[in-house]
Amino acid sequence: MTQNTPSPHPALAPGPWGLPFLGVLPKLAREPLGFLVHMAHQYGDVVRLPFGRSEAYLISHPDDVRQVLVTNYRSYKRSELYDKMKPLLGEGLITSDGDFWQRQRRMMQPAFHKQRVISFTGMMVESIQRMLERWEKAEQRAEPLDMLAEMMRITQTIITRTMFSAGLDEATVDAVGQAVTVGQATAEQRFWSLVVFPDAIPTPQNRRFQRAVRTIDRIVHGLIDERRRSGEDKGDLLSMLLAATDETDGKGMTQRQLRDELVTIYLAGHETTSVALTWAWYLLSLHTDVARKVQAEVDEVLQGRVPTYEDLEKLRYVHQVVEETLRLYPPAWLLSRTALQDDVLSGYRIPAGAAVLLCPYVVHRHPRYWENPLGFDPDRFQPQQVEARHRHVYFPFGTGPHLCIGNRMSLMEAQLVLAMVVQRYRLDLVVDQRVVPHPQISLKPEGAVRMTLHRRSPPARAS
Ligand code: HEM
Repeated sequence: MTQNTPSPHPALAPGPWGLPFLGVLPKLAREPLGFLVHMAHQYGDVVRLPFGRSEAYLISHPDDVRQVLVTNYRSYKRSELYDKMKPLLGEGLITSDGDFWQRQRRMMQPAFHKQRVISFTGMMVESIQRMLERWEKAEQRAEPLDMLAEMMRITQTIITRTMFSAGLDEATVDAVGQAVTVGQATAEQRFWSLVVFPDAIPTPQNRRFQRAVRTIDRIVHGLIDERRRSGEDKGDLLSMLLAATDETDGKGMTQRQLRDELVTIYLAGHETTSVALTWAWYLLSLHTDVARKVQAEVDEVLQGRVPTYEDLEKLRYVHQVVEETLRLYPPAWLLSRTALQDDVLSGYRIPAGAAVLLCPYVVHRHPRYWENPLGFDPDRFQPQQVEARHRHVYFPFGTGPHLCIGNRMSLMEAQLVLAMVVQRYRLDLVVDQRVVPHPQISLKPEGAVRMTLHRRSPPARAS
């Protein structure tokens, strides 16, 4: 029988025993990455994991990734893990499903059209220039910078300006940033918790969370109201979403939907990109041969100028560095779905109601698909090599109808940040620290990633 051909008696997938009532949840919560990698290697393409009274199936064959996310996606819905973000995000694109999601996606898609994204290049370049100016003080004082914090700050600035043009003062940007951080910390704490106190119970954490949500609501609703009153089209995401109507009924989004989508885009649109960039700096500092190739390409293409959109096509190697970073450290490291009906994956039965776990971190490092899987080798993303691989062994942005709506934007942003920083500096990791991944909602490094700035010689010409 061929792969994925339904069988009348599909087998029960292999997997470990777990503890009574808890299954493998404690192991998964303690060391998620190591545990999932180990499971896939020990048991194969489909692993049955007891999860308390329910069960989950870890899948790592690219045909199965395609079946769940693309060809048979209607047989699955987003799993309960996504629901844990609902108190913060509401019913935005990341947390919604079915017809509601589809309608929202249709209305939002034009805002992420290629030409729209290209129109953000100038704003991105200007924001990165300001960051580099700010870094000069740290350079002069030879002070290390926390690259995770720096990358978070630049991606926050860029997403805020994408959504609301330049019309936000620093205090508002900071207030939203802080409130979202608190909201996200709560969601992350709930992500792995076996016991979650309902919002109505006034634990200190719940109270902090509700305060944060009130702050976000006040600011975001205020911005929407102000824009409605002025009626001005600023060409930013807020104006686009306010004007968007659905082709089937001609209606636009309600105030609540607008709020949910804006908060979703804010969160999804900066955290993942900042984490990817931080890992890129880390990897480049460890692989000086790759870093030197990046420098050579940037110097040759840009000749000391600031980049334009047209340059990005020529900065091929920089693009490959971003892709290879997303392979080794995929910020969205775990996707999950719930089966709505029985399915068969790699010959194994997936019963309705079970969770299916798709872990890009596991598949991206699988020795069956990647030679020297732990090596950092951006040449894997040369076009001939990409062509030769199964399309679904690499899915940092997901795939199918739920494919990341911001993938083009984030790749462009990452390429611009890398090129403009490399043009001016070499970044070295401070030696007395261990950089390890800390998988939460995204695959962040644990704690700060301190790096020192070294002005490149001869200094790049300022434009
Ligand atoms: C390196 C950066 C990024 C990574 C790795 C990433 C990853 C992903 C992944 C894996 C999904 C699919 C989730 C699933 O199928 O369950 C997704 C969906 C999504 N992403 Fe991204 N993302 C990135 C940047 C962005 C940016 C910049 C934005 C917005 C400006 C964004 C907005 C979204 C939204 C709204 C969805 C939900 C799409 C839908 O279901 O219709 N992401 N992202």
